[in-house]
Amino acid sequence: MTTTTTSVFRSDLLAGKAALITGGGSGIGAGIAKRLAAQGAKVALLGRTQEKLTTTADAIAAAGGTAKTFATDVRDYAAVDAAVRGTVEAFGRLDIVVNSAAGNFLAPAATLSANGFRTVIDIDLCGTFNTCRAAFEHLAKQGGSIVSITATQAEVATPLQCHAGAAKAGIEKLTRDLALEWARTGVRVNTVAPGPIDDTEGMSRLAPGDMKESFKKRVPLQRYGTIDEVCEAVMFLVSPAGAYVTGTTLLIDGGTSLLGAGPFLELMG
Ligand code: HXC
Ligand code: NAP
Repeated sequence: MTTTTTSVFRSDLLAGKAALITGGGSGIGAGIAKRLAAQGAKVALLGRTQEKLTTTADAIAAAGGTAKTFATDVRDYAAVDAAVRGTVEAFGRLDIVVNSAAGNFLAPAATLSANGFRTVIDIDLCGTFNTCRAAFEHLAKQGGSIVSITATQAEVATPLQCHAGAAKAGIEKLTRDLALEWARTGVRVNTVAPGPIDDTEGMSRLAPGDMKESFKKRVPLQRYGTIDEVCEAVMFLVSPAGAYVTGTTLLIDGGTSLLGAGPFLELMG
């Protein structure tokens, strides 16, 4: 089975727009930042590690785009608010927010510490609220689009993932509530829920070593997804093509969630 890769053409679909991406320094968030920049948006990257942000921003600049970086922990509301304001100062506006920052690890619920559970909720769910809350007043000026990256664990019971599952389910519910409250201002709020995506930190944590190949065979489409394929979903939601879509979750999972816990059951041994 071959992996689909997408040629990214530069376009002006998002010209004049400004976007902010949390977790934009690596993995799926970096891919999304590069894609939005290639379609003409100016992008702001948030994450804790300046080095990762700089690497991604440099790649965007080398490809002809515009990127600014803000070393920020999404758990710190004041820092997120400052980064949002810095973005608006630099680019004059804010149109698109992508929440990709997250933390995850495999841990049985019976031994996961209260602080381990709280840490993942803080990064994923509270971090997403913080960013949406700080961005809203700027998005509402001309209308805008928020996309949060969740995961199939939001809906599907998954072993060793109660912390991440609860956090992502919380984001999906938050998304529906914000979509309803903010619809009249022209701010759309959606989530993209990827299944296993190749060449990412997430998959190296969830399917370490030998598990990678056996896990892949159990995905209905018989392969992992690509970062490009997640970017396509985000592009749909933030572009005029998605103008009538709000409060929804778009699964990009190769059919994985059709199997329930499916491939993840191997984690139970
Ligand atoms: C059990 C763990 C643990 C582990 C940390 N903890 N790692 N518990 N198993 N493997 C516990 C610690 O013991 C501690 O609790 C608490 O979590 C906080 O740990 P810290 O290291 O102090 O937290 P922090 O420095 O804030 O780091 C957050 C982190 C870290 C989530 C623990 O891994 C991180 O920074 N991750 C960011 C990158 C990442 O995870 N990327 C993957 C996202 S992918 P105690 O009680 O000891 O104080 C993803 C995939 C989704 O989400 C689904 C795919 C299908
Ligand atoms: P990743 O490269 O580790 O991306 C997570 C990013 O979040 C990192 O850049 C990290 O940078 C940042 N981050 C973590 N904690 C933060 C904090 N407190 N404040 C600010 N930034 C923080 O992993 P990924 O696999 O690409 O995951 C990206 C997103 O996709 C996540 O939301 C994940 O849950 C979701 N997802 C991934 C998969 C997959 O197969 N990989 C599947 C489903 C969903 P710093 O550590 O420098 O802060």
